[in-house]
Amino acid sequence: MQDEEKLIPSPEGNKKRTGWLAQNVWKAICTLALVIYLFTSLGHNSAANLADVETEGLGVASPLEKSFLTALDENLAGNWSEKYTSVPHLAGQGIELVDWTVKKFQEYGLETATESFDIYLNYPVENGLSLLREGKNGSVVEYRATLKEDALPDDPTTGGEDLIPAFHGYSASGNVTAEYVYVNYGTKEDFELLKNLKFDFAGKIAIVRYGKIFRGLKVKFAQEAGCVGVLIYSDPGDDFYQEAKGDKAYPNGPARNPSSLQRGSVQFISEMPGDPTTPGYPSQGDVERADPFDRIPSIPSLPISFKEVTPILRKLNGHGFNATKVGGEKWVGGLKGFDYWTGPAPSYSLNLYNNQSYDIRPIYNVYGNITGTDSSEGYILIGNHRDAWIKGGASDPNSGSASMLEVIRAFHELQLQGWKPRKTIVFASWDGEEYALLGSTEFGEKYADDLQANCLAYLNVDVSVSGKQLNIGASPFLNQVLTESLHLVAYPFGGTLFDHYFKKYEKFGILGSGSDYTVFQEHLGIASVDMGFDSSRDDPVYHYHSNYDSFHWMSTMGDPGFKLHNALSRYLGLVALKLTERKVIPTEVKSYATELELYFQALLTRVPDKWMSIPTGGCHRTISSALANLEAEFKKFVTNADAFDVRANALQAEWDVSGSLPFWRRIALHYKIKGLNYKLRYLERRFLHHKGLDGRSWFKHIVYAAGRDTGYKGFAFPGLKEALDDDDVYRFTKWLRIIRRKMKDLNDDYEI
Ligand SMILES: *[C@@H]1O[C@H](CO)[C@@H](O)[C@H](O)[C@H]1NC(C)=O
Ligand SMILES: *[C@@H]1O[C@H](CO)[C@@H](O)[C@H](O)[C@H]1NC(C)=O
Ligand SMILES: *[C@@H]1O[C@H](CO)[C@@H](O)[C@H](O)[C@H]1NC(C)=O
Ligand SMILES: *[C@@H]1O[C@H](CO)[C@@H](O)[C@H](O)[C@H]1NC(C)=O
Ligand SMILES: *[C@@H]1O[C@H](CO)[C@@H](O)[C@H](O)[C@H]1NC(C)=O
Ligand SMILES: *[C@@H]1O[C@H](CO)[C@@H](O)[C@H](O)[C@H]1NC(C)=O
Ligand SMILES: [Zn+2]
Repeated sequence: MQDEEKLIPSPEGNKKRTGWLAQNVWKAICTLALVIYLFTSLGHNSAANLADVETEGLGVASPLEKSFLTALDENLAGNWSEKYTSVPHLAGQGIELVDWTVKKFQEYGLETATESFDIYLNYPVENGLSLLREGKNGSVVEYRATLKEDALPDDPTTGGEDLIPAFHGYSASGNVTAEYVYVNYGTKEDFELLKNLKFDFAGKIAIVRYGKIFRGLKVKFAQEAGCVGVLIYSDPGDDFYQEAKGDKAYPNGPARNPSSLQRGSVQFISEMPGDPTTPGYPSQGDVERADPFDRIPSIPSLPISFKEVTPILRKLNGHGFNATKVGGEKWVGGLKGFDYWTGPAPSYSLNLYNNQSYDIRPIYNVYGNITGTDSSEGYILIGNHRDAWIKGGASDPNSGSASMLEVIRAFHELQLQGWKPRKTIVFASWDGEEYALLGSTEFGEKYADDLQANCLAYLNVDVSVSGKQLNIGASPFLNQVLTESLHLVAYPFGGTLFDHYFKKYEKFGILGSGSDYTVFQEHLGIASVDMGFDSSRDDPVYHYHSNYDSFHWMSTMGDPGFKLHNALSRYLGLVALKLTERKVIPTEVKSYATELELYFQALLTRVPDKWMSIPTGGCHRTISSALANLEAEFKKFVTNADAFDVRANALQAEWDVSGSLPFWRRIALHYKIKGLNYKLRYLERRFLHHKGLDGRSWFKHIVYAAGRDTGYKGFAFPGLKEALDDDDVYRFTKWLRIIRRKMKDLNDDYEI
């Protein structure tokens, strides 16, 4: 992809428009020959190629889509799952699986390439955790945790010599002995609740449970509070199935295995993903490297199981604050034998030893593409990461790897039947996602220009199956293809995916962070979607980043028969086909416009009354009038978008029946559609603000970003939202101005 022409529209300003115009003329000249070729060859299309000119009503698959679905009646997802979970494949490791992926991509007809990046990252050397009791003769070790998960005879990948130890990606090395305290989930609010009680965190080890926010931010908040180390454990009180309620634990039942622990990255993902030493640019060769200190923790942390943290938490009983008194029932987990207290406990301390080896190490992305018939229409990118924290990883990420490979296999069947996609389709098997979205972020930073000029959409599948509930987070740009495709796939437990999804949700979710779409959606402004069947309340407990996320768990508990894997392949492939095949880019601008208006309305309810009369310093006299003005822009965009969609649909309808038109009229129509597509292709880029968000300029999208204080969960219009959170009226008005300018430009451009 590095060879593509560099036609990047700069995200902002008037310069861009001139650039686009020049490009239009240039492209028009350059593609004339191609267009003539296209139209003279139309009569010779195969049946599969003609499929795209049929009207695709809801619930009606085109012949091409039917052929695709038929190819997936055979289901090899279980085979791929078994292969991908057979050897350890931490970032940069599992070379056998890199080679195997290349081989499969080639076998299924993809043009394939491997690319490595040189990343600063850690591999675990040694760990240790002891509970010490201070006696008259000094301290004695009262208890030593193993920090190991039990090997299960039934589950082959939970044993052996090649297991990956308990550790955190980007954790700091250290050997600390200190008193320890319990801080619930370790959210910003949890730390603040205790700070308000004049709690002394200085020099303590914080014990927090998993949940609510990205683990790296737990460590960040602990570090900022003055703690010297962190233990993060999985509390069974957060599970639906619990041994304490009579459920059996894995491998005998759906409850959490008591020895399971969650590895994972503790990078500060909401500041910026990617190699922490190369902010904003690709890490290859001897590039300049920055000090990563503000992007990774400086205090050590370790994951631990609930079985092994119990004797430690028990010692806190009766010391410090009763957790219920601090934050009510929300502060109390499900462990038995003690009440939850904050501590510290007099005469007890912990020794936490974490030895990590840091170096610059290679990671390996694998790419494979199917070249489309119309290169001027750009390409779509489909990606899944390959690396896992454990030997298995049947769910995270290799359920997605299996589902994606099935799409590739089915597309190969279509190619054998004579099909070529209209737009190029590029598949990516990313490495290093788990540490900090490494492979995708470095790729996005390296090919930013090409991606912004030519990439229409990014489709991400990380975990395709960890439970039975379909979850979809997406840019509204993709709403139309996502909704249409839901109708065409059966949910393995009855009805269509459409019935299943909208039984629980009213619409698609907002992208935050935590997977490989981040660089595309939030840094480069490329419309993205993330999809997968997630674990919901009454699904068997999913052992996230634990040895029990294994092929055995998947085939006995998670997805026996691999039916959900197959459903996800069908869905992902259909979305891709709709995007590549339709002549007019299939999007409803109005659904984007409507979402924007809703997000804005929701934020309006949070603006304090006392702000309303504050002068803004701009051409609007007060915040109140600036808000009214912006609201009017949003409404106007809904109207403009609606008219635009009507025109787009009319053009597609005209194209569908244009086979009988004279040659020259078809060419004219083709150019009309090209102009329209050009505008649509860059719609998402229009939401980029080149200076980025406050304090984290890597995030450039004004509508979607990783949640600053949550990591995973996103919030719309982060600039406004964070200004409200921080009670910062100056920044609030700044973001009102930025958003108004964007909306005004959009309205100028989309006015028909
Ligand atoms: C497709 O793959 C070939 C071979 O690796 C490469 O030359 C080309 O640039 C790729 N095209 C895209 C759009 O990725
Ligand atoms: C897939 O796995 C099944 C069951 O283990 C086996 O019978 C079949 O031959 C495998 N197919 C391929 C293509 O590997
Ligand atoms: C403490 O040390 C003294 C002298 O070394 C020894 O006699 C005594 O038994 C020790 N006490 C405990 C509780 O270990
Ligand atoms: C950690 O530090 C303690 C002293 O605080 C020391 O006794 C122990 O040997 C150290 N552990 C390792 C593995 O270096
Ligand atoms: C502490 O809170 C628990 C509820 O979590 C309650 O049962 C217990 O009585 C409390 N203990 C004290 C000493 O307040
Ligand atoms: C970590 O382990 C290495 C290799 O065993 C050793 O040389 C180093 O001293 C250890 N670091 C610490 C902080 O204990
Ligand atoms: Zn993952």
